[in-house]
Amino acid sequence: MAKANVVLGVTASIAIYKALEVLSILKKRGYAVRVAMTEEAQEMISPVVFEALTNAEVYTDVMEEIESDDTNITHVALAKWADVFVVVPATANIIAKMSYGFADDPVSIIALTTKAHKIIAPAMNTDMYLNPIVQKNLEILKENGFVIVEPIDGELACNTKGVGHIALCEDIVDVIESSLYFKHFEGRKVIITAGPTAEPIDPVRYITNRSSGKMGFALAKMAKFMGADTTLITGPVCLREPYGVKRIDVERATDMLDALKREISKAEGEIILIMAAAVADFKPKEYKESKIKKSGSEFVLVLDENPDITAEINRFAKENDKNLIIVGFAAETNDLIENAKKKIEKKGLEFIVANDVSRSDIAFGSDDNEVILIYANGKREKINKASKEEIAFEILRRLI
Ligand code: PMT
Repeated sequence: MAKANVVLGVTASIAIYKALEVLSILKKRGYAVRVAMTEEAQEMISPVVFEALTNAEVYTDVMEEIESDDTNITHVALAKWADVFVVVPATANIIAKMSYGFADDPVSIIALTTKAHKIIAPAMNTDMYLNPIVQKNLEILKENGFVIVEPIDGELACNTKGVGHIALCEDIVDVIESSLYFKHFEGRKVIITAGPTAEPIDPVRYITNRSSGKMGFALAKMAKFMGADTTLITGPVCLREPYGVKRIDVERATDMLDALKREISKAEGEIILIMAAAVADFKPKEYKESKIKKSGSEFVLVLDENPDITAEINRFAKENDKNLIIVGFAAETNDLIENAKKKIEKKGLEFIVANDVSRSDIAFGSDDNEVILIYANGKREKINKASKEEIAFEILRRLI
């Protein structure tokens, strides 16, 4: 069964090919998709292409359905079928039509009829996008519940660079997915740490660990989907930040600690901190300003302990009267439960997420995880193996 039904409205911008990419990501993620195209869009890409990809007829002509005897009127049926209605790309023309309630093409007529979540991804020339008329029309759409996936700075069809380039397709799909989540964390602040830290030895070498950042990024994505004001503080990783999440890149454990202090100082009200980062426990005692050369004999590296970020942040929050709830992770290769339990009190945690990192099918680098939640009162809950996003959702659900 499909996760949800998406009606994709396609209009005539040079970014039209992005509609195909969005469609293909949606299908891969398990959504059922139907397509509606304006007449001008059909001149740029044949509806046959969308028909082949969706295995369904594309809605192309408002007049045709008016003239037919079919009582199952297409735009009404599609409007009802949709859980999400998304326009990719959205031209200045369709934005104007939708904001003023026009209904003379297959896209604007669905926009006016549907009760589904409504999302648009504008794409146009910079001057056109920044034109007060377009901005006013976007405001009207926002006031009427439309979510705008803001265009980004980039190369434009008119051989210029500037804002107006359509948002990344993954971001558009994230916004579509996000619209289906209940906003339990609306108005709440969630800070997530992710990835490893890297502790420099000299300008070319460092100590780090196997964390890919996937678990922390999945938590940030889900927190955002659930409506949180989300900040992600991450060590060096090769991952794209989830749409709408504030990302802060750090290198060393001490940088992560400083960034956390800054973010917590700024935040008002309750703050949820989830420490998914694999912070390096040790750092070189001495940093060499130039590259260490081989000497032909044994090389000894002396290590110091890094501060325990979680314990320090807990103290910092108390001293500064901050209402902080902390969830920790425990990465263990042996005696998982016993070792994890010891960290709850030491670090002042609400609960700890115990991770068996000796397994290669979960935890470090994997797309999946399997964890045991251990609470301060000794209660335990296993979350069976699932994608890191599903695990993240389950962890966050316990903090609602
Ligand atoms: O990034 P992935 O590839 O997706 O892998 C995910 C993960 C295995 C890294 C993640 O699920 C995980 O288990 N993260 C915690 C790793 C870790 O550092 O565990 P720990 O048992 O060493 O530390 C316990 C807790 O204290 C953690 O919340 C850690 O962030 C924190 N800590 C650790 C050391 C330190 N100096 N200060 C800390 O605050």
